[in-house]
Amino acid sequence: MLISPELNKAFNEQIGRELLASHQYIAIASYFEGRALKKLAQMFFKQSEEEREHAMKFVEYLNDVSGKVEIPAIAAPKADFESALEAVKLALQWEMDVTHHINNLMAMAIEQKDYAAREFLDWFVKEQIEEVSTMQDLVQIVEQVGEHYLIMVEAYLSHGE
Ligand SMILES: [Fe+2]
Ligand SMILES: [Fe+2]
Repeated sequence: MLISPELNKAFNEQIGRELLASHQYIAIASYFEGRALKKLAQMFFKQSEEEREHAMKFVEYLNDVSGKVEIPAIAAPKADFESALEAVKLALQWEMDVTHHINNLMAMAIEQKDYAAREFLDWFVKEQIEEVSTMQDLVQIVEQVGEHYLIMVEAYLSHGE
């Protein structure tokens, strides 16, 4: 086994968080579908897929280092939102939390002189900068546009295509 039991356990917990994020983003996408905001829905369905890919990166890594994959119980994601702003703020909060956890994993890898894990986690450190920044932008845009003009967010998101 090329990974310590502590780091292995922490990686399994991270798999749980990535999967919960994936489920949470399906719930947020569905909330937007319910409001006929297709571009926002699309964006979150895509984010959901990315979160699943993140979980799979940890799964593959654990298998590569002969660790043990133990997927934890995944809590139900939040399904009801008062507003679009509440939904995107939840996503931003989630990305901030994940960033904090990735940093903790990195600190653990450094402390244990696990250079392979360090290099593996580097990708996530960079990815989280992008994820937080995307959600921060979205929160700002939704705040500026307001709940009644979300259709403008749809137009904005179409521009990037
Ligand atoms: Fe992620
Ligand atoms: Fe993310």
